[in-house]
Amino acid sequence: METPVITTTGLTKIYGADRSHGRAVTALDGVDLHVREGEVYGVIGQSGAGKSSLIRCVNLLERPTAGTVTVAGQDLTALAGRGPRAGRELREARSRIGMVFQHFNLLSSRTVQDNVELPLEILGRSGKERSRKALELLDLVGLADKARAYPAQLSGGQKQRVGIARALAGDPEVLLSDEATSALDPETTRSILQLLRDLNRQLGLTVLLITHEMDVVKSVCDSAALMERGRIVESGTVGELLATPGSELAAALFPVGGDASGDDRTVVDVTFQGDAATRPVISQLSRTYNIDISILGAAMDTVAGKQVGRMRIELPGSYEDNVVPIGFLREQGLRIEVPGREQKPVPAKEGAAK
Ligand SMILES: Nc1ncnc2c1ncn2[C@@H]1O[C@H](COP(=O)(O)OP(=O)(O)OP(=O)(O)O)[C@@H](O)[C@H]1O
Ligand SMILES: [Mg+2]
Repeated sequence: METPVITTTGLTKIYGADRSHGRAVTALDGVDLHVREGEVYGVIGQSGAGKSSLIRCVNLLERPTAGTVTVAGQDLTALAGRGPRAGRELREARSRIGMVFQHFNLLSSRTVQDNVELPLEILGRSGKERSRKALELLDLVGLADKARAYPAQLSGGQKQRVGIARALAGDPEVLLSDEATSALDPETTRSILQLLRDLNRQLGLTVLLITHEMDVVKSVCDSAALMERGRIVESGTVGELLATPGSELAAALFPVGGDASGDDRTVVDVTFQGDAATRPVISQLSRTYNIDISILGAAMDTVAGKQVGRMRIELPGSYEDNVVPIGFLREQGLRIEVPGREQKPVPAKEGAAK
């Protein structure tokens, strides 16, 4: 899981840079991305942040203005720049990168099976090999009985399954997905995400997916990056993000709300991870300091098989009254944030209390 399978360095895309007049748009502004082998990596960000530009530069559908893209050890940007012969090399490299689209991009005049066979035709595979592979992939995505159907006869979810089967035709090491579920209803979204997760596990497929929905990240991703105005402003595994003070992604993945019930109360956000998530720290805190603790909000979940989550609790008394209990929580290895006092370290001396 450690070797990066997708790496971009200083990736920059300026649309209209070559025009002598008209406004140039900087869609990517020096993006360094590292996606490790076998992980599901989510890139999230608002509309216009540059997500689609990033994914289109990763498979060189779009030529980057500057920077490099390496996929499975191969520098695609170097291939792109080397004249007409490089065209074929690049096409071959691209066949090892599967791409799934928001609007499926199926050919309506072709059957489901023929849509899946299309990339294999381009690669010059024999008819027999193509049909064997297509039927195997349709079986894998749960559409064995739809091979002869036409796209118009399928539901949205089924169309996306065909799109995924087609993306897998060239036995890719990497699957890229640009908003693959945003045209689908919530239940179909879940089943498509589950399919991507299963393919990731069964085939060891690395998945880079773009989304603007936090739920997508939460349900399938091992790692995530937040994009704003062409830059990655935060990135890491879900665990690393939770351990980062002030992480916007962690707060969005595990939102906790709730206001203090009175003036003389202290609100504390606690982030649990690993061992700490299963230890009864809150009841220990209550017993050790003989204080009543209210839980104002909590978001716990299992991510990559580990319990993680955040909890907002309320302690009686002012912040100054609670320096020692807060210190106790920190000693338990929990990440503690006091809303309104974020980032300010709690004085370590006991004398500060009462
Ligand atoms: N072909 C293009 N020519 C000119 N500008 C473009 C082109 N494609 C994208 N842009 C601009 O680049 C910026 C990033 O666009 P991009 O499509 O990458 O955003 P996005 O994060 O995918 O947004 P969305 O969530 O709406 O799909 C935007 O300002 C957009 O208008
Ligand atoms: Mg987009």
